[in-house]
Amino acid sequence: QVKLLTLADGQKMPQEGFGMYKITDQSTLTAAMKYAYDAGYRLFDTAQLYKNEAEIGNALKELALPREELFITTKVAEPNQGYQQTITSVKESLRKLQLDYVNLLLIHWPIEKYFFDTWAALEELKKQGLTRSIGVSNYQMIHLQYLATQAHEMPVVNQIECHPRLNQRPLIKYDKNHQIVTQAWSPLGRGTILTNPVIEKIAKAHDKSSAQIVLRWHLQNGIAFIPKSVHEKRIKQNIDIYDFSLTDKEMTAIDALHDFTRVGKEPALVYEYNQKW
Ligand code: A2P
Repeated sequence: QVKLLTLADGQKMPQEGFGMYKITDQSTLTAAMKYAYDAGYRLFDTAQLYKNEAEIGNALKELALPREELFITTKVAEPNQGYQQTITSVKESLRKLQLDYVNLLLIHWPIEKYFFDTWAALEELKKQGLTRSIGVSNYQMIHLQYLATQAHEMPVVNQIECHPRLNQRPLIKYDKNHQIVTQAWSPLGRGTILTNPVIEKIAKAHDKSSAQIVLRWHLQNGIAFIPKSVHEKRIKQNIDIYDFSLTDKEMTAIDALHDFTRVGKEPALVYEYNQKW
């Protein structure tokens, strides 16, 4: 069963969730949410950038999923950063999602402009009850350190690209030491890692799929993760990882696949253009 992690602000977040990047077609999306809910997923992860908040709102209504069981995340897109723009855009996200609040609101990418103003808006939205928790996405250590110079409260989640080819060990350790839960996006490396012979060999030994092996590796690393699929079989398979475990040797073999390969973009470093700090 999916474990609930307690965030630094006391809220509980499922360790495994359902990623909804690139799921935009209404009927595909509604079906995927139904498969996911029925399979046991309760965390649904979207973003203003994904252009599917309205479709998710429609699906939630159509499927009549109980709000109190769900953990909904959205993220403020770069063009909506800035104090007032953030407040306005999040209210718009809630309108589209047909929700009174989200469980987690993240800044999608660190950008220098409005770096602190956007965070101040998230703090205010939390105060107003429009989100239960606030966090960031794609922040490197330098961004978190910079944020700490002015934030009233710190992010409770940092959602970053993480998979065997980009295993993010130093950042995960930093997050942990600062009571920030690391959440992996593209935990399967968008599928690119699934045909790796090391993973395939381990999969065969456990009679599991490559995806299950990689997700189990995330689980045993103690971080949160949000695989995405639109196929019922895969959606089910990706949450069916709680009845076996990888040995230390297998964990180490997967760790060794790290070669700094990103499937997404590189977060810009604040200090590259902020000389004031
Ligand atoms: P699809 O949606 O067609 O199933 P990530 O979560 O790392 O971004 O990876 C998502 C990609 O991996 C998608 O292209 C998805 O395709 C594919 N995928 C997700 N789960 C599985 C699985 N269990 N087996 C094979 N491919 C998968």
